[in-house]
Amino acid sequence: MRIYRYDPDSDHGPRIDTYTINRDKCGPMLLDALIKIKNEVDPTLTFRRSCREGICGSCAMNIDGTNWLACIRPLDEVSDPVTVYPLNNMDVVKDLVGDQSHALAQYTSIKPWLRSSTPPPTHERLQSPEERKKLDGDYECILCFCCTSGCPSHWWNGDRFLGPAVLLQAHRWLVDSRDDVTEERLDDLEDPFKLYRCHTILNCTRTCPKGLNPGKKIAEIKLMMQQRRG
Ligand code: SF4
Ligand code: SF4
Ligand code: FES
Repeated sequence: MRIYRYDPDSDHGPRIDTYTINRDKCGPMLLDALIKIKNEVDPTLTFRRSCREGICGSCAMNIDGTNWLACIRPLDEVSDPVTVYPLNNMDVVKDLVGDQSHALAQYTSIKPWLRSSTPPPTHERLQSPEERKKLDGDYECILCFCCTSGCPSHWWNGDRFLGPAVLLQAHRWLVDSRDDVTEERLDDLEDPFKLYRCHTILNCTRTCPKGLNPGKKIAEIKLMMQQRRG
């Protein structure tokens, strides 16, 4: 395994370390191999992980040139040697850990919570099955940022373009029947950079480990903009 290493507290620049593991004594996923190295060979190897089943989004990294989740990438399907880098286009905190501060600040900027002017009901805010279905393809997002890290428009204009993960989340609130600030949410996105720097290159869709289609959701937001202009 060829693994990117960088320690900001050292005087040295980044390097690639090579490790050999015995596959017969390792779990089936790339994350198992990283944990094995950390436990048995090099405790300084640093990476994020939590759920180990593709739910938390913590272990997103660049594996053989593609952003994916280490815990659901079988070792049987990677190159030999496999190359592992942190997600690109993020400052590196250490080794395979990217700094998500900017991405999370962009996420916060869309106010990703239910906003309603109606008084809180005494029970849950209900939806019909049809209304609930509109959230399909959005609610499954685990905010791993594989897509945003792979988006060329976000590489060049990441300070102002929100990127596919955050825009998919924006879509999630725009189509939620329980939220009633849709116009305000669209107003916030009506900006030459925040939304319209998406050029439908679809790198985001290709690299989503949850099989979602952020590029399509962004196109749907653009359509909503168009429709309200009449
Ligand atoms: S479709 Fe849009 S958001 Fe997705 S990679 Fe291309 S430019 Fe980025
Ligand atoms: S859309 Fe897919 S790749 Fe992007 S943050 Fe959500 S789960 Fe990750
Ligand atoms: S450890 Fe949670 S998604 Fe991989």
